[in-house]
Amino acid sequence: MAAENEAGQNAVAQPAAAESANPQREQDINPWSVEGAQGENGEIIPIDYDAICRKWNTQTVDQKLLERFEQVTGHKPHRWLRRGLFFSHRDFDKILDKYEQGKPFFLYTGRGPSTGSLHLGHTIPLQFTKWLQDVFDVPLVFMLTDDEKALFKDSATFEETLEYAMENARDIIALGFDVKKTFVYSDLKYLGNHFLMNAWEFSKLVTFNQVRGAFGFNESSNIGRIFFPSVQCVAAFATSYPELWTDEPLTARTKEIASIPCLIPMGIDQDPYFRLLRDNAHRMRYPSPKPALIHSKFLTALQGAGGKMSSSNPNSAIFMSDTPKQIKNKINKHAFSGGGATLEEHRSRGGNPDVDVAYTYLTYFEDDDAKLAEVYKNYKSGELMTGELKKMAIELLQEYVLQFQEQRKLVTDEVLDQYMKPRKLQWAGNKNPKPKAAAESKECSVQLG
Ligand code: TRP
Repeated sequence: MAAENEAGQNAVAQPAAAESANPQREQDINPWSVEGAQGENGEIIPIDYDAICRKWNTQTVDQKLLERFEQVTGHKPHRWLRRGLFFSHRDFDKILDKYEQGKPFFLYTGRGPSTGSLHLGHTIPLQFTKWLQDVFDVPLVFMLTDDEKALFKDSATFEETLEYAMENARDIIALGFDVKKTFVYSDLKYLGNHFLMNAWEFSKLVTFNQVRGAFGFNESSNIGRIFFPSVQCVAAFATSYPELWTDEPLTARTKEIASIPCLIPMGIDQDPYFRLLRDNAHRMRYPSPKPALIHSKFLTALQGAGGKMSSSNPNSAIFMSDTPKQIKNKINKHAFSGGGATLEEHRSRGGNPDVDVAYTYLTYFEDDDAKLAEVYKNYKSGELMTGELKKMAIELLQEYVLQFQEQRKLVTDEVLDQYMKPRKLQWAGNKNPKPKAAAESKECSVQLG
């Protein structure tokens, strides 16, 4: 394996190139903005995900890993794994080993609350996280980074982002996470005690040079931004939440709790944070294993590859609060089409599903692989028209969003309180661990759950 300084090399986030006579620029992906490359004539080039894997030295999710997943869990891999939406990872295979041995681990993910309502793109990693939670039967901690959003957006106040966090929490809960296994928290409200002690200890291990390298900060960056990575990182340490693992009042962080591994599903743009974490987790007083990561691509904007759905551009995204009519109009008016320019041209030369946004959305939501392959073939041959393809996408999206809105109505204040209350979580993990593997393993495990 290559020397693993995950935060060091390669990780420098370049500030977006200034507008100049030559509009050509490279793709720029960092936790706060995602821009596709731009060609000579200013055209946006689709995001090159292989290039990110190479640059950041991540492992690709390949057939072998998917087979191993199925063998260990007994579940068919989710369509987002089969179709490469979750395309990259770090040590996901090691989590499968743990699971196989019946060892505990937990899931951690999060969201930066930038507006009151989630869009479709936000829900994908979250929905996937719920699926992982169901498959593995493990605890999940869900961080709402209302602190981050106010620090990184000059015009945002902390009151505003806290309010968004509470609204977003309702959306997240509506996705169906199991309350017995899920702790949702706002940084502004929850951080203290053990969590903060971890954050301070971690910050003591990391220099300004390192965060500058990983995130592109400079001497004019506010000091909150410089400290914040510490907060997002230590959320992956089980010691940050002693209440979740035991009923006894814990007065100190412990070695046993620190040893619980963590798996973090995320958009690939968040990777710089977790390289920093993986480089330093073992240096804590109570060391934690390097967390495992699984990375998703960005959900394609209505305008097509090269952009991602963005809350600040309402026409780029389907919002989870949109009406069926709005969804229909957005897809019909704004979804980039790979169809022929005229009906005749489409019939004779066929369409291009690979750049077609309606087709792309079908790949996110149509579970039937055979049906999807049929649509692909018929669109490419010109038999299936753009209007028909769009109609299919519209119907699937309307159903998904409507179902979500029904669930959202059920999230009362009491339900919200249940999820956001620190309490001992209950889960079972792997009920049939492989006996031999368990016996062979020398690592100790805590009695949890
Ligand atoms: N920084 C993320 C955002 O702005 C939120 C986040 C916090 C997160 N912790 C995470 C995302 C862990 C994925 C995994 O959206």
